[in-house]
Parts: sequence; structure tokens; C-alpha cells
Amino acid sequence: MDPSRLVEFYREKLGERSLIVVSNREPYQHIYDEGEISWICPPSGLTVGLDPIMRATGGTWIAHGNGSADRAVVDQESCVAVPPDRPAYRLKRVWLSKKLEANYYYGFANAALWPLCHVAYVRPTFQHHCWDAYVEANSLFADAVQEVAGDEPALVFIQDYHLALLPRMVKERCPRATVVQFWHIPWPNSEVFRIFPWRQQLIHGMLGNDLLGFHIRYHCNNFVDTVMEVLEAKEDRERSAVIYQDRATFVRPFPISVDFEDIAQGSSRPTDDKSLLRLVNNIKSRGQTLGIGVDRLDYTKGIRERLEAIDRLFDCYPELKGKFVYLQIGVPTRTHLPEYKLLSEQIGEIVESINWKHQEEAWLPIVYRKSYHSPETLQWLYRQADLCLVTSLHDGMNLVAKEYVAAQVESKGALILSAFTGAARELPQAFIVNPYAVEEVVNAIHQALILPKEDLRRRMEALRETVRDHNVFHWARKIIDHVSRIEKHSFSPVTPLL
Ligand code: UDP
Ligand code: G6P
Repeated sequence: MDPSRLVEFYREKLGERSLIVVSNREPYQHIYDEGEISWICPPSGLTVGLDPIMRATGGTWIAHGNGSADRAVVDQESCVAVPPDRPAYRLKRVWLSKKLEANYYYGFANAALWPLCHVAYVRPTFQHHCWDAYVEANSLFADAVQEVAGDEPALVFIQDYHLALLPRMVKERCPRATVVQFWHIPWPNSEVFRIFPWRQQLIHGMLGNDLLGFHIRYHCNNFVDTVMEVLEAKEDRERSAVIYQDRATFVRPFPISVDFEDIAQGSSRPTDDKSLLRLVNNIKSRGQTLGIGVDRLDYTKGIRERLEAIDRLFDCYPELKGKFVYLQIGVPTRTHLPEYKLLSEQIGEIVESINWKHQEEAWLPIVYRKSYHSPETLQWLYRQADLCLVTSLHDGMNLVAKEYVAAQVESKGALILSAFTGAARELPQAFIVNPYAVEEVVNAIHQALILPKEDLRRRMEALRETVRDHNVFHWARKIIDHVSRIEKHSFSPVTPLL
């Protein structure tokens, strides 16, 4: 599936109705850079996944505007055409006060729902004033959707855990809209979810959706179990739906993906990041093997555990000293929350102590770049890297894993992949590891380093075939197809969908 076929498919199935995507994070952020206005694509699997679709279909994307120059570039309706260098759709920004951002985004979405859903052993915090802020913020997003959709039929495609109350709000305010939500993070089992104080309200909000998507079937099942415990609802197994207050919400897995061709092509363009180019060229010219990790500095990504494995790797295989270099790209994220601030400080210290322990002459085992890198730079880097390490303790999908595969045009590299990512279900030819078991990660890295080239090539080719065939346009197609089938069959609880 490619962008133009996706557009044809959308028109064939859904006609001329407009597409409205809603998320907290915006796909393009305008910022002041030494007094000049510039822009970046924030590091987020959600925005990276949805942007190629919006570039193909056009429409409106509603998101929180929090870039320093965001207000300076919008029109009277708070809209700006994006991508800024080749406009294809409209970004409408929602403005939130600092207090609301602190309580809704940090205090609730990222201090309550994020740890609750990921189960990475960080305790969720539940504060009433943050819940109130979450309700208020969702309602501001509903105002924006209503402004755009009006009374017209529209496909309102809501993203993620920041906006769980929005589906019902939109259904009530825009009755002609079809409402779909995609939950980009895991959904825990119902036993874990039991501790959440506002579970009835949250689920009530989510059952405003016509269709609700998760990455994998397991998360769908967990969600349905949770609904059964929390509300007076009926499960319709035949159609993978939940019937609540005489309406059906279909609950289905749709594993998200990447723009395979775009990444493959981009990977051959050298980066304009001179110092990274020099670093990688030096590593290559010395005949050293390059391993990489690319993450937001988030405790769910298993970065501490991964560094511990690198440390143990050189303990167990000292012959690798001088021959293998691990490059960690870490982007600071959500730094106003204590767990994130702590992690951000710790990673630098851990890297320093591992480097001190193993360093030999000019060779350092780990290079740490604690900064944001553009998608273009990453595409180039992925192609250069012999090894990519994704060791999330829990991750809905993890798009870095798929991006690495897409950029491996010569099929030379190896992907070490946590079993607790959504991606692991689709990519069994990766070196699958339990990130909590350090020795297992060490063994996988070592195995990847010594495996004959031909075996590595065969594994990577199989991975590439999967990601090529199941690219992000294929993901969107499946969702559009489900929307049209749901509409055709109306919501009669007895009509089988498939
Ligand atoms: N990313 C980026 N610049 C960086 C680091 C990451 O653009 O410096 C992108 C990366 O290419 C990927 C996304 O951020 O597309 C991260 O998505 P993923 O699903 O791996 O994890 P998330 O951070 O969304 O939890
Ligand atoms: C995950 C979430 C996204 C979020 C992204 C980056 O992928 O599912 O909703 O946008 O992390 O996090 P941030 O808090 O910076 O938006």
C-alpha cells in the first residue's frame, strides 16, 4: 500500500468526508532558535506514524500547541499549514494554560495513566486536581473538534491516552461524526487496572468510540475484560465488540508501522550533522562495529538495563574492547516529572562509569549524545549501524525497531528486540530478549556479533519483507476498511462484521 492508493481507498470507502486527527502531541512544533522561527518534528511514535497518512489524505490535525513560536505562525483559527516546507494538511493548535498542562499532561496523563498502563514498576500517582484538569483539557479538545467538524459527517480519529474522555464528548457534540480512537500504549490486565480511581468515567468516555484500536490482540482482550469488570456492558465476541447503553464499540488490533519506502530512500542521504558524521566515519574507518540505541529518556525504554548489558558484555568478552562501540541517542522528555529528571541525570553518570571502567587508549565503549536528532539524521544513522538495541521494559509498538529495519537497505545489521514490545510479535527474526535478564541481552548481542553475515542477511531480509508489506499505509487502510464495514452493517448487535 502506498500514499496514492491509500487516498483512493479512503475516497472509495468514506467518500468526501473530512479526516480530523486529534492528539496531544503536535506533528510540527515551531520554536524560536536564536531569535529566528524554525520548526522540528517532535520525537514521538504517534506523530511520526500519523504524519505520512495526513500528508497523503489531507485534513485537519488538532493538537496542543506548546512550541515557543507556535502562536506566532497561526491564523485567526489557530491553524497553520504543515509540513512547513511543503504544506499538505492543516494543523489546528489548542492552547492550554501552564497550570492545565502541568496537571493534565504531566500530573495525569504521564504520572497516572502512563505508568499504570506500562507496568514498568514505577508507581502511578492519582491526584484529584489532576483528574479535574484531564476532564477540562479533554473538553477544550472537544471544543476544537466541534469547531472543525460542525454538523458535517467527519471521521474523527483520536490518538492515545491523553484523550480518553474525548470520544464520548465528540459523539455527544457531533452526532454525525464517526469516532475512532487508537491507543498507542499497552492496556494492562484488569487486575492492574483495578487500582485506577476514575475507571468508570474513563471507560465510559472510551466507549463513545465506534472503533477502538490497540497494537495487539492481548491489549484488546485486557481492555474488554476491564470493561466487563467496571461497567454494565456486554461482550460480543463474534464481532470483537462491546455493547454498552445499546451501542457497539468495536475493539480491534491494528499494529502501527512506518513509511518503509521513505525511510529506505532517506537512509542513503548523508546527514548534515557534521559531528555525528565524523564520529561514525571514524568508527567505520577503524573497522569497529557500531551498535546504536535511539530513545526518549523514558524509564519504560529499559536504557539503564541496556547499559548494564553493555558493561557485562565487555566483562564477559574483553576481546571486544576496541572493536565494538555503542552509541546511545537519548532525547530528554517530560523532564518536569521527578522519575524522568532522575533518569536523565542517571544515564550520563552510568555511561561515564562504564567508560571509565573499560576505556582503552582512544577507544571508549559508549558514546552518549543526549539530544534530539532529526528523522533524516536517524534514517542515515540506522543504515550505518551494525546493531540496533531496543530493550523496552514494555512498549505498545516501538517504531525505532521498524525504522531500523526499513533503513537496513543492505540487510547487514541485526536487531536486538525486547519481547515486551508490540513489534516483537511481528518481527520474530530479530534477536528477541527479556530486557530484565541482563545475561540474555549480553548473549544476544554477542551472538549477533559473531553470526555469519549470510545468516544475518537472511534474518534482516525477512524482517524487511514484513515491514515493507505492513507499512503505515497498510495500517491506515485496515482502519478505514473497518470503519466502512462497521457503518455498512450499522450497529445491530446481531450482524457479524466479518
Ligand atoms: N525520534 C526522533 N528523534 C530523536 C529520537 C527519536 O525523531 O532524536 C523518533 C524516532 O525516530 C521514532 C520516535 O521518535 O519515530 C519514537 O517512537 P517510538 O515508537 O520508538 O517510541 P516513543 O518515543 O513514541 O515511545
Ligand atoms: C508515546 C506516546 C505518544 C507520545 C510519545 C512522546 O509514543 O504514545 O502519545 O506523543 O510517547 O511523548 P510526549 O509526552 O513527548 O508526547
